[in-house]
Amino acid sequence: MNILLVGGGGREHTLAWKINKSSLCDQLFIAPGNAGTPQFGINVPIAVTDFEGQATFCIANNITMLIVGPEEPLVKGIYDYFKNRPDTAHIEVIGPSKEAAQLEGSKAFAKAFMQRHNIPTAAYQEFDSNSYEAGIAYIRNHSLPIVLKADGLAAGKGVLICNNHIEALAEFQLMIQQSKFGEAGRRVVIEQFLDGIELSVFVLTDGINFVVLPEAKDYKKIGVGDTGPNTGGMGAVSPVPFADAAYMKTVTEKIIRPTIEGLQKEALDYKGFVFIGLINVKGEPFVIEYNCRLGDPETEVIIPRIENDLIAVLSATAQQRLNEIEIITSKQSAVTVMAVSGGYPNDHETGKVINGLDDTRLSNTMIFHAGTRLNGDQVVTSGGRVLAVTSFGNNLVEAAEQSNYMLEQIHFDGMYFREDIGFEFR
Ligand code: AMP
Ligand code: GLY
Repeated sequence: MNILLVGGGGREHTLAWKINKSSLCDQLFIAPGNAGTPQFGINVPIAVTDFEGQATFCIANNITMLIVGPEEPLVKGIYDYFKNRPDTAHIEVIGPSKEAAQLEGSKAFAKAFMQRHNIPTAAYQEFDSNSYEAGIAYIRNHSLPIVLKADGLAAGKGVLICNNHIEALAEFQLMIQQSKFGEAGRRVVIEQFLDGIELSVFVLTDGINFVVLPEAKDYKKIGVGDTGPNTGGMGAVSPVPFADAAYMKTVTEKIIRPTIEGLQKEALDYKGFVFIGLINVKGEPFVIEYNCRLGDPETEVIIPRIENDLIAVLSATAQQRLNEIEIITSKQSAVTVMAVSGGYPNDHETGKVINGLDDTRLSNTMIFHAGTRLNGDQVVTSGGRVLAVTSFGNNLVEAAEQSNYMLEQIHFDGMYFREDIGFEFR
């Protein structure tokens, strides 16, 4: 079959690498892709939210599967667009419907869904301009720290953890009255702070059945030792040692199963990945967020560890046959380390020439492109997060050492990476 993969980051380069190994894929196209994705398919210059452009391309190229990487097209309804058009309704779309994507698109929707289905999460209340005064009173009486979340998509910036009431009141006022996060933040979820270790859990569902994919830990802070501002993710590891079989069984019974059953009970059409961000508080998992897609950079460690033919698994998802699939996970450990532009996550320059990408001395290491583009025949930087270097090893430290070694062979002006990722598992 012919496949169109939507997106252009490290997640999509990793998916393209994996799809390329499938015997079921004839031609792979990536819209828009990056400077790495042409290794495994053909880039087509169509924006991720240009549904009409994607549909026209799919019809002209006999595409029968559309795999959606990022959240924006999902939250904007790419699934419904393809299903509602008679000439594209036959295309298998991997991703939830617009309504189901609200699990990521609206924090208030996600919290209410969790409450309806008794899924453990932090206690909360939601407020908007009509309940502004009540919100002020709620904050004044709330224990510290206090967590404020813009309701809608805010490019990873919409969550504030405030250590005093004055800061929380000021931020709440900025969000509601001055639209600090635009429309996305004119509704605010205020919730209890959970103190614990985070875990990224990935599930693939066909709406009825589900399979659990390898789990991962994401490193969000820019600095060594988890210091400094948050980023989109500086690296990831899989497996995560504390998430053993017993813990994952608890997560499955308390969180995953009620989530999938909840989707079914509410007739929310969902054939795709569910990414559950959770916090482990004294052995008990609590959901902090749902995402309706795979994580980035988590994809760069979980997809390489899956040994199944990914397209066979995704076909089963689209055809509601996931009960026939057993996920086979590599015993190897995987670590990915991101090379980012100097200055990121704040202002940074792009267009820097990247050298060392064709170094092949480590056979267990893969260089996935995140923010790159071609300038003539040179690969140059095009974003904050530039490359994700993933290695396999017999344990996390061995994998981490290889990714670090490979990163030392790569160079672009201002390049930075965290040298500590994965080493705490020594
Ligand atoms: P989110 O945008 O929902 O992924 O939140 C961003 C980050 O904020 C999470 O990865 C957590 O580190 C943190 N966070 C969110 N909610 C809470 C909470 N209730 N308690 C503690 N930390 C939280
Ligand atoms: N790594 C976190 C995310 O993809 O949202």
